[in-house]
Amino acid sequence: MSSQQKTQQYKNLALLNAQSPLFNQVCVIGLGLIGASIAQAIKNNGLAERIVAVDRHEPSLKEAIQHGLLDAGSVVLSEIVSGSDLIIIAVPAQAVQAVFIDIKNAMDSGLLATDCIITDVCSTKVNIIDAAKAVFETLPVGLVPAHPIAGAENSGYHARRATLFVNHSVIICELPTTSHLAIAKLSQLWEAVGASVMPMEAAHHDAILAHTSHLPHLLAFNLVEQLASHDDNLDMFRYAAGGFRDFTRIAASDPKMWHDIFFANQSAIISALDEYSVYLSDIRQLIIDKNSTALMGLLGRAQAARRHFGHMLASTPYTDTSAMSASYNITPSNTVSGTITIPGDKSISHRSIMLGSLATGVTHVTGFLEGEDALATLQAFRDMGVIIEGPDNGNLTIHGVGMNGLKPSKTPLYMGNSGTSMRLLAGILAAQAFDSVLTGDTSLNKRPMERIAAPLRQMGAVIQSTGQKGTAPLSITGRDSVGTPLQGIEYDMPVASAQIKSCLLLAGLWAEGTTTVTQPEVSRDHTERMLSAFGYPVTVDGNRISVEGGGTLKGGDIAVPADISSAAFFMVAAAISQDSELTLKQVGINPTRTGIIDILKLMQADISLSNETHVGGEPVADITIRGSNLVGIEIPEYLVPLAIDEFPVLFIAASCAQGRTILTGAKELRVKESDRIAVMAEGLQTLGVDCTVTEDGLIIEGKGTQSQNSDINNSQPVFGGGDIVSHHDHRIAMSFAVASLRASQQISIEGIETINTSFPGFAELANQIGMSIDVVSA
Ligand code: S3P
Repeated sequence: MSSQQKTQQYKNLALLNAQSPLFNQVCVIGLGLIGASIAQAIKNNGLAERIVAVDRHEPSLKEAIQHGLLDAGSVVLSEIVSGSDLIIIAVPAQAVQAVFIDIKNAMDSGLLATDCIITDVCSTKVNIIDAAKAVFETLPVGLVPAHPIAGAENSGYHARRATLFVNHSVIICELPTTSHLAIAKLSQLWEAVGASVMPMEAAHHDAILAHTSHLPHLLAFNLVEQLASHDDNLDMFRYAAGGFRDFTRIAASDPKMWHDIFFANQSAIISALDEYSVYLSDIRQLIIDKNSTALMGLLGRAQAARRHFGHMLASTPYTDTSAMSASYNITPSNTVSGTITIPGDKSISHRSIMLGSLATGVTHVTGFLEGEDALATLQAFRDMGVIIEGPDNGNLTIHGVGMNGLKPSKTPLYMGNSGTSMRLLAGILAAQAFDSVLTGDTSLNKRPMERIAAPLRQMGAVIQSTGQKGTAPLSITGRDSVGTPLQGIEYDMPVASAQIKSCLLLAGLWAEGTTTVTQPEVSRDHTERMLSAFGYPVTVDGNRISVEGGGTLKGGDIAVPADISSAAFFMVAAAISQDSELTLKQVGINPTRTGIIDILKLMQADISLSNETHVGGEPVADITIRGSNLVGIEIPEYLVPLAIDEFPVLFIAASCAQGRTILTGAKELRVKESDRIAVMAEGLQTLGVDCTVTEDGLIIEGKGTQSQNSDINNSQPVFGGGDIVSHHDHRIAMSFAVASLRASQQISIEGIETINTSFPGFAELANQIGMSIDVVSA
């Protein structure tokens, strides 16, 4: 049973046995910071009829009774414990065994029920279980060792805070003897005080905590000791900069407590310390050797990993966590103008990292999109041992490791929100010698992955989509275990997807023989172009694309053009608003991406291209758009894959057009970052636009009007105001921001944090050309 299922089972059990308040009498043993904080949290949340405490320090007990926190207190357990149905042991680990003896005596003498729940808060768990085993012949059914991962540098009763556990984790160790009801009730208590409960095996808990908590504390104490024992220690402390202060903040915590913990978790701490010593001597050697590349690699990896772990654990985007629940309030404006540069192309940025890493030699990338999706790809290759310098203002230097130089990542590769990263990487990893796991955020883990896993299996890959319904996490077995290389196949793609095509072509680079994919319609061809640019032969015969396995890639320079998918928002912004004139500099106009231009032109938008040239194997041009009266159209199906990401904003254009616009053949939109047909229809209806959802598209009744003298009449509002839910889809959020140019009232858009996946700086750029977006942090 997974830990999630377990947690749910406990919740159900707790519901069945619900009582109010949750406990009759809670007895807290030890009124230090943690004990007193739990007591206060229980009190404030009304979770017990009575709270009593045992503490060696009588004045604390008296004070707590005076404060109304306790109903009674004593220095002796047997005097106070009678009638308790929960005992929380909050004394140092070394003192727990003596407490167990008192509890056993109370049970033996009938003062305590034998099913009373007994828990502790110590930061080591194996020794607590050992102490219990030494005292009780059979462990009590109510014994649930636990560890709230919360604390503060201040200690003692006076430092208590009822909110200490809010948004913190509490690890609970289920023993074979523990009753499910005990776990359920204790979990309910912790959740009621704001914590989230995680089940974990005791030995695993101790090993993890040795690394993540005990080792850092040990190092902090030791560094202060090192500096304090210098002769010139006064100067050292006087001039100690922020780094010293930050690093040693935790050395202000209670020495007695840490003394006890270091002994209580002795073996796990020693092995964490030994491992640390190896890393320390490695970095020492890099400095002695003046090994600049390796040192940069180590520092860069560590910096990125620090950010990455935080996001991975939270399943959240990479950048700016403060913007996590931010929203836009947009005041209607009616025109846009100016000349702007749009950030780099997302698809090309991903591929630059992938091919640059697999090439021999160094690859310099300029114009790299520093959005979260491309950063996820970058991090994945760092995790697989590739040294990548940057990104610095869109510049990257990738030290390619060659076709067989990737190393296994120590942790699952985290793809954040990025479908492109996951699908293309799956192709690469299916061919590697080592095993891999690919995972993503909640949204990515719901997107279909069998579309790549099934054809990869035909090539001999061993890949499992371990989520429900053929979704991520993906687990891939390395070729070393499988014993044979991948085999080239002929694959007829059921959908025109560049991600499926690219995944298979990339896998084909290591396959025996030829890998050929046939696409039903043209889809973006950046993989083919970049492979050729890196000197890898690709055969393109209409919609049939083939590669032979066994070749090599040669690193070089890649200039990433501006992303036409991001430019699309501003193209539509100018097209739907009065007197607008906007020029977007050097945007990629690869013919497999220009569906947006073709569709807008069919709608009679005023678009012109100038300064056409080539950048790094990709055509680019300045795009100028002026406001005009748009007309509704039936969108030709062959244009759908060429504008696949632009439909959300095209729906905004269609709403402003005169007459009906009909989109068909676009089922793929239902499996993007959100179901873009359903979510856009919901938002359009909120803003007063009449539209009908079909299985594979949308019919929009445009509200644009043509004035009698056929003058441009694009000043009338088309949208009302309202609250839009973006479903955490970046393109939905940006599309409705564009709608504000023809809105009568304010539009608010919730869940805008994912805009950073593809278009960092969107709101600033929009405001620069005349829109009025206010970013509101929650
Ligand atoms: C992409 C391909 C498209 C697109 C995605 C990026 C790529 O997906 O929607 O944003 O970089 O290959 P599909 O090819 O699955 O349609």
